[in-house]
Formats: sequence, C-alpha cells, structure tokens
Amino acid sequence: MKDNNNLFNNSLIDEYTFKKINKIINNLSNNQMIWLSGYLFNIIENNKLNNELKKSSILIDNKITILSSSQTGNARLVAKKLYDRMVLNNFNVVLLKASEYKFKKINKEKILIIVTSTYGEGEPPEETYVFYNFLMSKRVPKLNNLSFAIFGLGDSSYKFFNKSAKDFDYRLKELGAKRLIKRFDSDINYSKVANNWIKEVLNFFKNVTFNKSNLSIKNKSIKVDNYEKKYSKKNPLITNILCNQKITGRYSNKDIRHIEINLPNVNIFYEPGDILGIWYENDPSLIKKFILCFKLSNNDFVKIGNKNISLYEALLKYCEITVNTINIVKKYSYLSNNKYLLSINNDLLELKNFVKNTPLIDMFIIYKSKLLAQQLVSLCRPLSPRFYSISSSQKEYKNEIHITVKILKYRSKNFVHFGGASSYLGRRINENDKIKIFLQKNNNFKLPKDSNISIIMIAVGTGISPFRSFIQERENMKAKGKNWLFFGDQKFTEDFLYQIEWVNYFKNGLLNNINLAWSRDQKYKIYIQDKILENKNIFWKWINSGAYIYICGSITMSKSVEISILKIIQENGKMNKSDSVIFLNELKINHRYQKDVY
Ligand SMILES: Cc1cc2nc3c(=O)[nH]c(=O)nc-3n(C[C@H](O)[C@H](O)[C@H](O)COP(=O)(O)OP(=O)(O)OC[C@H]3O[C@@H](n4cnc5c(N)ncnc54)[C@H](O)[C@@H]3O)c2cc1C
Ligand SMILES: Cc1cc2nc3c(=O)[nH]c(=O)nc-3n(C[C@H](O)[C@H](O)[C@H](O)COP(=O)(O)O)c2cc1C
Repeated sequence: MKDNNNLFNNSLIDEYTFKKINKIINNLSNNQMIWLSGYLFNIIENNKLNNELKKSSILIDNKITILSSSQTGNARLVAKKLYDRMVLNNFNVVLLKASEYKFKKINKEKILIIVTSTYGEGEPPEETYVFYNFLMSKRVPKLNNLSFAIFGLGDSSYKFFNKSAKDFDYRLKELGAKRLIKRFDSDINYSKVANNWIKEVLNFFKNVTFNKSNLSIKNKSIKVDNYEKKYSKKNPLITNILCNQKITGRYSNKDIRHIEINLPNVNIFYEPGDILGIWYENDPSLIKKFILCFKLSNNDFVKIGNKNISLYEALLKYCEITVNTINIVKKYSYLSNNKYLLSINNDLLELKNFVKNTPLIDMFIIYKSKLLAQQLVSLCRPLSPRFYSISSSQKEYKNEIHITVKILKYRSKNFVHFGGASSYLGRRINENDKIKIFLQKNNNFKLPKDSNISIIMIAVGTGISPFRSFIQERENMKAKGKNWLFFGDQKFTEDFLYQIEWVNYFKNGLLNNINLAWSRDQKYKIYIQDKILENKNIFWKWINSGAYIYICGSITMSKSVEISILKIIQENGKMNKSDSVIFLNELKINHRYQKDVY
C-alpha cells in the first residue's frame, strides 16, 4: 500500500471512504495518479464556477441576442435550435448571423449568446472575421453590462481545437462581461453536447429573475437556411458514379481525379460554391492491418450504437481509422499502459507532435498492446463524411454533380498511407458503383447576385474546383461581368487541371485574363501571390470597379495571397497598413472577398 496513512489524521474524509480511495489508488501507476489529480482539480474548478453562476441573479429586461458564426451550417443549426426553444418559452430573443451583427454597438447589448465553429488555423468562420477582429482589438469598449454564453463546434483532430469559441469566451470575460454558464466545446459529433448545452441555457434562464416585460413578446419567425433538406448527412442520397478520371499528368506528384456523380430526378438543387458531403468506406487492406495487429477476427462482434455488427463492418463503415488525435493517444496510453505514451500524456506540445507524425496504425504497431474488439472500436472516432467543392454548374449539367479530388498520400516510417475518403473516391470506387452523398450549402462562397459584376478567381490545386462551376454558370447566364483566373500548381505539363476547358474559355473571350504560376518549372519558385503582385495595377483597377475576389485551396496559400492583396491596397491605394486592413474588412463585409480554404 502506498504510504498515505499519515494524511488520514487531518483528513475531512471518514475512515471507510479513505480506505476505499486508497484501494483504488494502490492499483494506479504514477502517471495515472497525475492524471487523476488533474481530473479532480477540473471537477473542483467547474463546481466553483457553477456555484458563482447560481449566486448571480440577473434581471432580464432586455432582449437576448443569439449569434450564429458558421461556415457550413452546423453552428447555424445549433443556434436555430436554441432560438426555437427560447421562442417556445416566450423569451425576447433574436437570431442573427455573425455577418449581420452590428458589432460596433456591442456595448448596448445585455445578453449575447455565441455559437461558433473554428476554421483555418484556429480562426473563426469567414462571416465572423470582422466582428472577431474588432473584439480582439483595442478599439472595443469595456463590456461590463454584458452577460454571455458560448458554444463551440470544432474537431479535436485539429491543432487548435475550438479556438475561436475559447477566444470569444476569454476576451468577453477580459472586457468585463459576465459568463452566464460555462462554455461548452463540442467535437465532430456535436449534436448530443449541443442538446445538453441548450438544456443548460434554458435552465439558467428559467431560474433567473424576470422582468415581466421580457415575457410574452412575439418573436419574428426566422427562416433559417435549409441546410438539411430531403437528403441530408443523416439521410444521404444513394446514387452512382458516372465517371472517375485521373486529370493530372503521368509524371505529376499528385493523383487528382475528376469524378462525375449521377443526380437522378430528385429534388437536389445546388449552386456554384456549394459543397458535396460524401460518406466513405475504409480501405480493406488497412482494416486487415488493424485486425492482425490486435490478433482479433473479422467476425468478432461489437456494439455500435444499439446495433451488434462484425468488427470488420464496424471498421469499414463506422470508425475513422485514418485520423489520429490527442484524445485517442491519451486513451490508448491508459489502455496499453505503455511507458512512453504515458510519459507524454500531460505534455500538450509532445502530444501534438506525436499525433502529427504517427498515424493510428503506426501507433498500434510500435506501441503494441492487447485490445478487445469493442475497446478498439470505442477508441476510434466515429467516421464522419468528407466535403468536396462542387466543380460543375447545374445549368450546364442538370443531372450530374462533378467533384475534383486529390488522393491524399503520405509516408510514415512504416507504411505508405492514404486518406480515408480521397482514396475511396480515387482508388476504390469505379463507374456505376454506389455512393452516399448529401448537399452542403455554402452561402459564404457565392457569385455576385448581379452578373454584370466582374470576378477574380484565385486557386491552387483542387481549389480550381468551384471556379469551374462559376465559369460554367457565368457562361450559361450570359453574364456580362468579366472573369479573371489566377491558378497555380507545381508543373504546367502535369498539373494544369481542366487545361483544355480554361484555354477554350480564354479563346472564346469568356475568360478575360488568366495568370498561371508553376512553382517547379524553373530553378526558383513562382507562386500565385507573385503573379498577383506582378499584375497589381490591373488588379487594383478591377477592385475599384467593384470586382469580387474569391480564393480557394490551401489555407497557407490564402494567407500569402492576402498579404499580396494588402500590399496592392497599400501601394496602389496609397494607404498605410491599418487603413489597408480596414479597406479589406469592408470588402469582406460586402461579400467582395470570399474564401473557401481547407
Ligand atoms: C469546404 C471544403 C472543401 C473541400 N474541397 C475539396 C476539393 O474540392 N478537393 C479535394 O481534394 N479536397 C477537398 N477538401 C478536403 C477534403 O474534404 C478532405 O479533407 C481530403 O480529401 C482528405 O480527406 P481523407 O479522408 O482522404 O483523409 P483523412 O483520412 O481525413 O486523412 C487526413 C489525416 O491524415 C493525416 N496526415 C495527412 N498528411 C500527413 C502526413 N504527411 N503525416 C502524417 N499524417 C498525415 C492527418 O492526421 C490528417 O488529419 C475540402 C475540404 C473542405 C472543408
Ligand atoms: C477546413 C477546416 C478547418 C477546420 N479547422 C478547425 C480548427 O482549427 N479547430 C477546430 O476545433 N475545428 C476545426 N474544424 C472543424 C469545424 O469547426 C467543425 O467541422 C464544425 O462543426 C463546423 O461547423 P460549421 O458548419 O458551423 O462551420 C475545421 C473544419 C474544416 C472543414
């Protein structure tokens, strides 16, 4: 027994409980005890916060504002659900998108509830950028009269999990606002946590003192964007593949596929900029490695939800086996009792580094352990669909949806790895095979309503995809606005996606300007941000004549492009740095600068 008896004399704990605790502690390793102490500390902190909140009785005599800060609609759905429940309970509540929020009057606000997702490298969604920047700046007033609650939607496989929710939470507190209930952070399967949070919010408001004027106020009914129509994430359309064709050259470093999907006579209407959600199945050869590694059998039974299915089926359709996360490593360290994994368990930096460099199967092989079939499936995250920008216009292809998919391929010490969904789409399904899809509206990446307005499209790699849809749409609409494409990749002969189509658009005059950047066709690197700067005078002219700017592709590229554009605004617009940022923010507010990056 560990020598804890001397603690007992001063303890608040009776002898029976003390012995029970010691019995548990005796079976724990040092690392497990460290974890336990952190766990207990968290419980104490949360209890403290809840007690503080219970004590603070707030007289509600003003409206409650719910802000949804969303890129692809999840946060909007949660915010709308809360709004509906509050309306049902007769609260005076308004629901706004972050892009509609008059944030400069935030100091007039009394109660603000923010539901936000996180994007980029821990950034808020596009529509929230300007509000977020304002809130983080020195210009923002003290907010002592404000009370707030935050709900975060994120994905724990990203380095900055739920960062924008955390940022809002800390910053509002720092500015003097009062937290109504503690922040809830949710992971990819957010629904359950969201429902619990909504319950807590409602309970909180039911327990505060009301001013009568707040009750029985008629709320305007709000039409929320119908993100989940007939076919949805939960109820996808099952259709078939029409074509799956490699569109990069023989010597390209990348395998990129043009995939055409049948859209039979069903009510699915998509617009340029929208995204396709795809449910995929894992690679059978990887499943085999998992099963062999733990000496399990395909036919072992496991429980997923309330279904009993074979381990093979669970790993094929229900578990994410290509993505490692910090949570998985932590859980596996306890299950395996592996010394090394336990030693990095409390070191966030080490954990992040480990996850980045160690795919799941490598971790299982290097840090071998015994797992039961059920333990294995419970350890993996539930499989979630992947998203692809639609690369066709329905005006051109009424009964088809096209996507452009890069097969993710990388090497670790042990194996060559492929991305789960991209290798399913690119390598494992063929013409006529069935596929499960659903549409994800993307109102943050839309052509200007007025087709006389000119557009500048900036893309690298598969970022070209929505622009193929844009240009088809503009051709069909006989849009008078001009079109300019900046496209970049490694090599002209290997990586010019949809080359013939773009050349034809340029020849027939629909595409007015085209600038290409090939990073590996010469000794020194050339990127699209360089091409933008080379054309700064015309670029500035287009901006001044009202052009919309669209950026699609990698997050890193979008940052470099933004630096170039800010430079043009400063030099050609004769502005200092901070004025150029204000100018760009204005473009964002007016939807004239839209990004779709991943
Ligand atoms: C709005 C939106 C639009 C998109 N549009 C497109 C599109 O048009 N075309 C397109 O091709 N993609 C697009 N994507 C990306 C796409 O959704 C998938 O993320 C991509 O295909 C990879 O998914 P996967 O399932 O193949 O890989 P996963 O199975 O999810 O594998 C990814 C994981 O592999 C690991 N990993 C990756 N590289 C390494 C490495 N070098 N070392 C160690 N581990 C590594 C990481 O853990 C990473 O999380 C889009 C994404 C979004 C959000
Ligand atoms: C390209 C991309 C980047 C993301 N980056 C992060 C991130 O840095 N941190 C995080 O916690 N979640 C991240 N996520 C996960 C989203 O926040 C999560 O999927 C959320 O449910 C999306 O909600 P929305 O539809 O309201 O935008 C990212 C998702 C995508 C597609």
